[in-house]
Amino acid sequence: MEYKVKGITFTMDELSSIPLMDIKTQTVSRSHLFHFLPGNKSAVMLLRAGDYVEPDFIAKYLDRGLESVYQLPIVSEDDLLVYRSFWERLRNCRTQQEQFKTRDEVIKRIALDFFQNREKCFLSFVISCFDEFHIYQSLVMDKFQRSSLVLYSRALLTSSISVVASLCSGYADYKFIKDFYNTCFIMDYGLVEYQNYNFTIGMACESERKDPGTGLSLLERMKRSKGEIQTFLQHPNMSYEYAITQSENFHHPEILEMIKMHHEKTDGLGFPNGYSYSAMSDSETLLTFCDYMVPFEEHEFVVGDGFKILFDGFGDLKRLTNKNRLPILKVIKSWDEIMKWAIESARKVDKEVLGEAS
Ligand SMILES: [Fe+2]
Repeated sequence: MEYKVKGITFTMDELSSIPLMDIKTQTVSRSHLFHFLPGNKSAVMLLRAGDYVEPDFIAKYLDRGLESVYQLPIVSEDDLLVYRSFWERLRNCRTQQEQFKTRDEVIKRIALDFFQNREKCFLSFVISCFDEFHIYQSLVMDKFQRSSLVLYSRALLTSSISVVASLCSGYADYKFIKDFYNTCFIMDYGLVEYQNYNFTIGMACESERKDPGTGLSLLERMKRSKGEIQTFLQHPNMSYEYAITQSENFHHPEILEMIKMHHEKTDGLGFPNGYSYSAMSDSETLLTFCDYMVPFEEHEFVVGDGFKILFDGFGDLKRLTNKNRLPILKVIKSWDEIMKWAIESARKVDKEVLGEAS
């Protein structure tokens, strides 16, 4: 019998039972979780793959009399292991030479997985990054997830992309990558911190992303309140104010200053301060790049979404209207070059292996 729940189709054979007590909390779920109603005629989804497993998840369903649930994994355990071992290697590098060697190997793997292969699920990469780098408490995850699934999934995606972007732009230091991941994760937290995010602000954010400089005019055209306009314009500062309360968890807390710059433009017409390109450092433009790579829409993790997120996302960014107003042309150029290099290098290795085999 085939089941269809919230757009996900599966059979009983694809599921396995897992005791509730064995589910890891305070992490991102690698499986969809279901419960079957008596008679097994219909299934109820308890959690989607990619959702944050809140600390009280287990207690909530134990209280309702459940002892186990059914899981449908979408993450590749092999891919998860590969990326986990890369991060471990990077963490233990003793010289810059070791860092660059590891960086090259990671980039080649990312290029093959998400610029060539169309079958990989990005969630494996997202979870490897989250488990390795993430520092925030459940409060932050809960607030993101409960306030907006759009902003929750964007935080997961942009922060994971920040790891790729760091490596592609020549940053191979573990501490920098970890700090940058957490800076990227929190850059839009100001939109949800005071429960002030709504659908229209989301529209303004997406308008701003697709056509830099149009977010504010959309809100004004729609005659939105001063409060909403302030939330939109001031969210980089509001995110920063929260982020600095976490500064003891950063190796280089000064990196958090970048958050205030992620909506500034080359021509000085960005917000909140109207700084121009000359005021921005390379790493600040890297944060803007990560932000503009991901649309303001809820992302559902599926097999094959890795190609859509990285390859298609990067292609869309290159075709963006008014992209010259964003200080990201240098980052785009370095991604282009390094991904071409990584794919060529990987092909060369393939040819050598085939040559040896024949
Ligand atoms: Fe933002």
